[in-house]
Amino acid sequence: MRTRLAGICSRGRGLRRSDDMIAVGFFTNKGGVGKTTLLCNLAGYLARHSGKKVAVVDADPQANATQYMFEEDILEEIYDLETEETIYDFARPLSQGKGYAADLNLKRSESFAVDVVLGDPKLALLEDFLAADWGTSGVRSLRSTFVFRVLLSHLKKYDFVFFDMGPSLGSINRSVLIASDYFVIPISIDIFSVRAIGNISEWLSKWRKMLEQKMAFVDEFDDLEVTDIELRLKLLGYVNQQYTAKRDAKGRRRAVKAYEKIMKDIPAAIDKGVISKTQPEPEDLDYQLGEIPNLHSLIPMSQSSRKPIFSLKSADGIVGAHFAKVSDAEEIFSQIAERFLQNVKAFDDHVAG
Ligand SMILES: Nc1ncnc2c1ncn2[C@@H]1O[C@H](COP(=O)(O)OP(=O)(O)O)[C@@H](O)[C@H]1O
Ligand SMILES: [Mg+2]
Repeated sequence: MRTRLAGICSRGRGLRRSDDMIAVGFFTNKGGVGKTTLLCNLAGYLARHSGKKVAVVDADPQANATQYMFEEDILEEIYDLETEETIYDFARPLSQGKGYAADLNLKRSESFAVDVVLGDPKLALLEDFLAADWGTSGVRSLRSTFVFRVLLSHLKKYDFVFFDMGPSLGSINRSVLIASDYFVIPISIDIFSVRAIGNISEWLSKWRKMLEQKMAFVDEFDDLEVTDIELRLKLLGYVNQQYTAKRDAKGRRRAVKAYEKIMKDIPAAIDKGVISKTQPEPEDLDYQLGEIPNLHSLIPMSQSSRKPIFSLKSADGIVGAHFAKVSDAEEIFSQIAERFLQNVKAFDDHVAG
């Protein structure tokens, strides 16, 4: 069985085929940068306008993605009456030593047109369990570490599965990233966010090494119950967020000067902090998926109506100049979706070629 170890943690070309489901973690080690807003709106855009089947897995114990996509009364039923199974219900049997759960439940968000594995504050209980198992070796450690790969095995009918994640390098996020094909970094335009990029590749290399060591200790992979244990994670791109934009004389949307200064350091930080150390890449890939400026009152309107920003209508409070802002937002998400799909295709072609 040890012969199977070769290539399991390969840095190189993954075994993914282009018709397979693709799992993407939205991750940065900093809170409040607009991860959840980006994830839900991009998921909604791909589902509503690009004809993709998308599932969202709310793996942040804060459950903000779930709160964004479902009405208050539904949330009360989920959490108070426990009428729906959540991500925690999927993970719980594992933490009780009962192996993987047999089923995974999803709930449809009609307005975003995506299916959601509901978030749950109780998921935080998994953090310590996964951390303890990561610290050991052998089958049990790998079984816990790959819990989200097993979750993904229930979601094969989707084109994309997006993981919403909390802002930490904790054990839940590590397991999510280990399960994912790609990650997207939402970057808020401030020096802290740019600095946080710097240590991502260090963490990834550490995890890769640890995984290789763990696998070296496992003799009987048949006991593991997970067959897909290749680490494939690559950066798909980043999105600049949370800056102020103005139209220039030619009508183009541009960041105001103070933000532009920080923004121009980002490509080098991404290159140094992630790409050059951790991944082979297709030529001419543009990692910048897009830019989302401060969208002001569209954000609370979108939150209150539980609708994507680009779907807001007069019934949601849109009046006068807001209409133009909603079309701007639609253009913004359309561009991000286009680049996102282009980059996925570029990596697929790279693997095939
Ligand atoms: N493009 C935007 N323009 C204005 N406010 C935003 C934008 N994106 C997110 N926000 C606000 O910033 C806060 C953090 O956003 P959120 O998506 O929850 O970030 P994270 O998931 O990174 O914590 C929220 O209050 C949200 O309303
Ligand atoms: Mg969030």
